[in-house]
Amino acid sequence: MSKNSKPKLTVKEATGKLGILTPGMGAVASTFIAGCIASRKGLSKPLGSLTQMGRIRIGKRTEGKSPLVKEYISLTSLENLEFGGWDIFSDNMYEACKRAAVLKPEDIEPIKEELSAIKPMKAVFSEKYIQRIRGENIIKEGTLWEKAQMLRADIQNFKKEKNCERVVMVWCGSTEAYCEPSEVHMTMEAFEAGLKADSDKIPPSQVYAYAALKEGVPYANGAPNLTVDIPAFVKYSTEHRVPIAGRDFKTGQTLMKTILAPGFKVRGLGIKGWYSINILGNRDGEVLDHPDNFKTKEVSKLGVLQTILQPELYPEQYGDLYHKVLINYYPPRGDNKEGWDNIDIFGWMGYDMQIKVNFLCRDSILAAPLVLDLALFMDLAGRTGFGGIQEWLSFYFKAPQVKEGLYPEHDIFIQSMKLKNTLRAMKGDVEITHTGLDYYDYYQE
Ligand SMILES: NC(=O)c1ccc[n+]([C@@H]2O[C@H](COP(=O)([O-])OP(=O)(O)OC[C@H]3O[C@@H](n4cnc5c(N)ncnc54)[C@H](O)[C@@H]3O)[C@@H](O)[C@H]2O)c1
Repeated sequence: MSKNSKPKLTVKEATGKLGILTPGMGAVASTFIAGCIASRKGLSKPLGSLTQMGRIRIGKRTEGKSPLVKEYISLTSLENLEFGGWDIFSDNMYEACKRAAVLKPEDIEPIKEELSAIKPMKAVFSEKYIQRIRGENIIKEGTLWEKAQMLRADIQNFKKEKNCERVVMVWCGSTEAYCEPSEVHMTMEAFEAGLKADSDKIPPSQVYAYAALKEGVPYANGAPNLTVDIPAFVKYSTEHRVPIAGRDFKTGQTLMKTILAPGFKVRGLGIKGWYSINILGNRDGEVLDHPDNFKTKEVSKLGVLQTILQPELYPEQYGDLYHKVLINYYPPRGDNKEGWDNIDIFGWMGYDMQIKVNFLCRDSILAAPLVLDLALFMDLAGRTGFGGIQEWLSFYFKAPQVKEGLYPEHDIFIQSMKLKNTLRAMKGDVEITHTGLDYYDYYQE
């Protein structure tokens, strides 16, 4: 071990196959699966995925060592992934891809056979939590407890049939109606009693998460749903060393916000107002058109600026910031969301300036690589013995889940450093602080 290196954590090798289960097999999940299959057939490239195409610097700048992340640390290869999941619609992944209309037919047709073979299992669903859509592929009978047992059996069967060594779950289902933690969420005993009593305080996403945790399957939450952010699951997952992470994939407008706001902040530029509006026409947009579901999304989106800008420490620059976020359902746009931001900033002597951002993005194209990275890194966390909340994966989320008493880091550059330094720590390499002092002779007598 070199003088500067730390003791290694033990990372078990990523042997065998990894199963990725997604509750929700709509636009994001189908685009993710199609991209993985196309990439492993050499028809496409997994762009936007840190695990596949990103690099990590090791050691000093003079050493010239920047391996690919996937060559640096043991991750399951695309060839060794198996895909499955649940949806309230019975469309297979070929049909789901066509329906979502994210990808062009010429990208879907060459992988039709592989996509058609992936069929959603029957979903646990509640109209209380999602009002705008109705599907037929749902488990109709039984209490929530019985449904949770069926999901556990689904996981076990999938693992056996596909010959997977390990499984991870990434929620790609719709955004549920807003809910806050209640009595039933405080302990695992209370939660299980709630499942048996069919408590309406338990949304479907928590039934999936419960099944995952009980099966030792890491759970990442791609929606702003409460799901694993409850004391019962935090405690259980920590004690049983099952990784959990959330909430809400960081794509689109919030991604831009967490790129821009840290820049204004470090330059000491003040911000008076940040007005954000989106139009979106996919099924996600349709679900979010209901105020209860939008509330969940709004809470997730609004926290970002407060945390980055710290108005309590910088009251003159950010104390009066007005932040507004709107999402409007507009079917003609489909998955091609358009976001507008108007930012009213001010600088030296209080002079005003304005910035306009018009992001014509593709929602699922931005989200798909995040599903892949999260699945692979959650599996890595499991193999490293990291249980409970995976704060090092904040990079991927709009509202990162953190331990009680900590504030989340939203600044994407801090998040990236956190992630890469965690990988270095897993390997026992020196963490990179970017001071660069040791390249100069500042320490002479
Ligand atoms: N695309 C992005 O950029 C992005 C960013 C952040 C978060 N998200 C979130 O990711 C999720 C998926 O987005 P999408 O664009 O794929 O939406 P989508 O509507 O195309 O897909 C969601 C799927 O979940 C299914 N579903 C709903 N309830 C379910 C349940 N209880 N069990 C199983 N399936 C269920 C729906 O039938 C639907 O097919 C949404 O919650 C969205 O808010 C997406």
